[in-house]
Amino acid sequence: MADKLIIFDTTLRDGEQSPGASMTRDEKLRIARQLERLRVDVIEAGFAASSNGDFEAVQAIANAIKDSTICSLSRANDRDISRAAEALKGANSARIHTFIATSALHMEKKLRMSPEQVLEQAKLSVRFARNLVADVEFSPEDGYRSDVDFLCRVIEAVIAEGATTINVPDTVGYAVPELYGNFIKTLRERVPNSDKAVWSVHCHNDLGMAVANSLAGVKIGGARQVECTINGLGERAGNCSLEEIVMAVRTRKDYFNLEMNIDPVHIVAASRMVSQTTGFVVQPNKAVVGANAFAHASGIHQDGMLKARETYEIMRAEDVGWSSNKMVLGKLSGRNAFKQRLQDLGIQMDSEADTNAAFARFKELADGKSEIFDEDILALVSDESVTHEKEQYGFVSLSQHSETGERPQATVVFTVDGREVRGESDGNGPVDASLKAIETHVKSGAEMVLYSVNAISGSTESQGEVTVRLQNSGRVVNGVGADPDIVVASAKAYLSALSKLQSKADRVAAQG
Ligand code: KIV
Ligand code: ZN
Repeated sequence: MADKLIIFDTTLRDGEQSPGASMTRDEKLRIARQLERLRVDVIEAGFAASSNGDFEAVQAIANAIKDSTICSLSRANDRDISRAAEALKGANSARIHTFIATSALHMEKKLRMSPEQVLEQAKLSVRFARNLVADVEFSPEDGYRSDVDFLCRVIEAVIAEGATTINVPDTVGYAVPELYGNFIKTLRERVPNSDKAVWSVHCHNDLGMAVANSLAGVKIGGARQVECTINGLGERAGNCSLEEIVMAVRTRKDYFNLEMNIDPVHIVAASRMVSQTTGFVVQPNKAVVGANAFAHASGIHQDGMLKARETYEIMRAEDVGWSSNKMVLGKLSGRNAFKQRLQDLGIQMDSEADTNAAFARFKELADGKSEIFDEDILALVSDESVTHEKEQYGFVSLSQHSETGERPQATVVFTVDGREVRGESDGNGPVDASLKAIETHVKSGAEMVLYSVNAISGSTESQGEVTVRLQNSGRVVNGVGADPDIVVASAKAYLSALSKLQSKADRVAAQG
């Protein structure tokens, strides 16, 4: 019988550590619901001790999600572990994931601890966590660059203390597949009690090998849990991508012979949701979820596909959620068709009132735009007027005047903690004038490090989706805004980024 491969998604923790990818509690909850629909086994919902916001996000996800195990990261100390346990109280199935660095470099330069101190701290932490929950994962951070003898001692000791999963991170993406696979194999062979825990892989993508390394850890090393993220989001170059690892194991079942719980038909919706929430655009040629992943342009390929699709396709687009004959919604579409599409996209509204608000926004949009695509719907349900998410700054209205040869002028009305204010400014262009108008009140001092506009569905009639990345005092956040008017979309994105800058002010870095 085939073994089971556990899919552990860390989009909401490691993914969120990506500069600019920070998410609000409600955004995280929406993504967690989609991960549950995808039937992810374990959702790492955050790092509860890192900030009050993250604590609340882990707590909300633990209370709402019933089919996946909910996990919180924690450093190897009692305070972090207690915070994680507290946040996870409402979960049907809870896991604490505790970690401490074990490489000589990290122990000496970062932790300033001796190997014996690290070993002791690891043991105490796992013991403490096991008194709070039955499911405890331990990660030796920078495990792949650690001395193998020392790593074996640490792993043996934490399994003896009750760790149920041992995760071996390639924290800096240094591994190559064969070596990483053999590294896991060696550890499993040398640790005497290795059969008492599930072995897990966690690979970063600095050399573009995160998926290949993870697969080698599974095939050569015998790991039975893979840690991954939607769209490969994560620190620096990202993590192993969920959609790629899942479809590799599924498409090549002949080779891997592993079973998974995942329902891949929700993959594309999950990818879009993460991309729209974070503002991290998916490259068109990205495997599985890129816009071109199933597009055939050359005549020879198209001819082959028409005769027999297997000539050029190893997976079916519809199996991962690309639907070919989907009805396009428009202004004549009714409430039921709209609700059905929300359901197909994996969007669950919190109440009937929210569905009504979303439907009203949909009708408004459809009045000016003949076809409403899935991307439009995903954008409109993220709109503050629909989510009621309390952001510090909220968009109200905008007017601007621009004419060739004249300096544009803008007036923006927005709310600050619910109180309406009006800002006016000129600028180099209408967008510049609008953002300067907002700054006349906010005076954030933030530096803009990215501004991008993307047509949500390809034509000039389309909604513009704007991503703004701001940096202030070492913090980087992304704000996303969508509107048929790109100046309005820009103002919305800017206000959203300013709100995030404010709410993430107290955050502790996971690998600090
Ligand atoms: O990459 C890493 O080492 C991590 C650990 C905290 C598991 O993300
Ligand atoms: Zn990581």
